[in-house]
Amino acid sequence: MAPRIEINRVTKRFKRGGGKIVVPVDDISLSVEQHELVVLLGPSGCGKTTLLRCVAGLERPDDGEIAIDGRTVFSAAKGIFVRPDQRRISMIFQSYALWPHMTVAQNVGYPLEGRKLAAAEVDRRVRETLQMVGIAGLEGQYPGRISGGQQQRTALARALVSNSTVVLFDEPLSNVDAQVRSQLRFELKRMQRQIGFSGLYVTHDQAEAMELGHRVAVLNSGRIAALGTPRDVYDEPPDHYVAGFVGVSNFIPGTLRHATADVSAVETALGRIDAAPAGRTFSPGSSVLVVLRPEKIALHTTQPAAGAIANIFPVQVEARLFSGAHTEYVVSAGGHTIRIWSHDESLRDLSDGDRAWISAPPAALRIVSAEGFAA
Ligand SMILES: Nc1ncnc2c1ncn2[C@@H]1O[C@H](COP(=O)(O)OP(=O)(O)O)[C@@H](O)[C@H]1O
Ligand SMILES: [Mg+2]
Repeated sequence: MAPRIEINRVTKRFKRGGGKIVVPVDDISLSVEQHELVVLLGPSGCGKTTLLRCVAGLERPDDGEIAIDGRTVFSAAKGIFVRPDQRRISMIFQSYALWPHMTVAQNVGYPLEGRKLAAAEVDRRVRETLQMVGIAGLEGQYPGRISGGQQQRTALARALVSNSTVVLFDEPLSNVDAQVRSQLRFELKRMQRQIGFSGLYVTHDQAEAMELGHRVAVLNSGRIAALGTPRDVYDEPPDHYVAGFVGVSNFIPGTLRHATADVSAVETALGRIDAAPAGRTFSPGSSVLVVLRPEKIALHTTQPAAGAIANIFPVQVEARLFSGAHTEYVVSAGGHTIRIWSHDESLRDLSDGDRAWISAPPAALRIVSAEGFAA
């Protein structure tokens, strides 16, 4: 079966005032399969909305091709451009964009207008959809009289009511408060599984991306910096941009000494660090960064015996920050500051200025190129 959305080498440029050209979508290829939700993740201004608008037909790309359900809706080479209302997709935005003078039921039923459906059928589908998004009973209310979370559920119902198989989301949860947001995320995931719609979901929130996406595409200035399952992107970041944007990373710069199939040995200010083999080949002498995730590092109050565990280094405790779920220890070693997240109760007596040791299994450490890295 053809992918639901197929983006093939799409480029979109804008000319800013003063003639400066920006390229928010720079030769991007990406596909969304049946029943798949792909998240576009990146900081503000990296081109997420522009790419989504290209798929919706709200922007006309300068180059490339886009197909939806196997039908070409845009082709620069063939001069094809299918209008947004002919693309059979739904879109849901950060601003709910509900009609204030219409009731919840009228807002949700709006996309069904002009479809020549019997009134009873429209009514049935609206009720079903409201039930599904958890706001049955609000049919007769006006958007101004319901909460932000309920408004967003209404917008979601409107996007889902026409049974579009492709739904585009542009930061739909950024305007709702934190607790409602995490509830809606969970429900969105459940609905996605239940209905099986395919979608592209834009967010700048990496936790949201990891929770919702079957796959995550990390964008950097109009290009895809990483594409894979949340776990792949988190565990195998291809570069320091991705390692720093998806989750938290400590970076220790160093020089690659040797690399085998099992281990990469890196000379650093702390000493020699053994890390997992790099995803790409670096030649000995290359400038690299060792990526240490805060939750993968162990902290010890006494020096561990060498041999049993690897990568043991003495550190000094600089600060301890209790966050409830874990405690963050900030330590220094070799002129570097390292953050560690621990649940280890035996560390509770550690104080600022104390000497301690860290260790980390090589398999938990990655190396990436130091190119373009500013400490
Ligand atoms: N219509 C436009 N004209 C000129 N520049 C634009 C236009 N739309 C977006 N841009 C620029 O393109 C870049 C990407 O914008 P956008 O796709 O909105 O990013 P994101 O959604 O990731 O925050 C930004 O630098 C933005 O200023
Ligand atoms: Mg945007």
